[in-house]
Amino acid sequence: MRAATKPPRVTAIYPGSFDPITNGHLDLIERGCRLFDRLTVAILRNETKQPLFSVEERTEMLREVVGCYPNVEVDSFEGLLVDYASRNGATVLLRGIRAISDYEYELQMALMNRRLRPEIETVFMLASEAHSFISSRLVKEVFGLGGNITGLVPPPVEVRLRQRFGRSQES
Ligand code: PNS
Repeated sequence: MRAATKPPRVTAIYPGSFDPITNGHLDLIERGCRLFDRLTVAILRNETKQPLFSVEERTEMLREVVGCYPNVEVDSFEGLLVDYASRNGATVLLRGIRAISDYEYELQMALMNRRLRPEIETVFMLASEAHSFISSRLVKEVFGLGGNITGLVPPPVEVRLRQRFGRSQES
């Protein structure tokens, strides 16, 4: 059943794969943590996907870059997102929308999540113009093919990518 009043403290979950975190994700975290009392960045543990970074590595990178925000924490989850949110007392799911192409998928997920747990609300934030073209998938592809990704990911992530792809600082 829906709560009739606003809870005294609003916890939001920002879920995703974050493989790896980009400056687009970080922008959303920075803006999102001003709206909610607590923001949990939750990494999906998905055995079927073959990620570049393990959940543990992604957690480390995220903690490194969100450490300056006192109301942001990093966690991981498996199973249904709404069940995880409910277990953690969250009433909001935060998602970013970059372009109209994101909308259809996000709409489907939001409606399904609402059907599963109507008391949990999905809140969408628009990506900043400067970040609207960035995705983890493209960052990995461009970097893997020798392209420059400076400014697209936080510096600690660029360091990890260099290590993973065996590239020096200069290249
Ligand atoms: O960053 P992504 O990969 O687009 O994030 C997708 C994510 C993690 C939000 C979505 O796959 C998810 O919520 N998975 C958990 C399983 C679940 O609840 N599935 C039903 C979604 S309606």
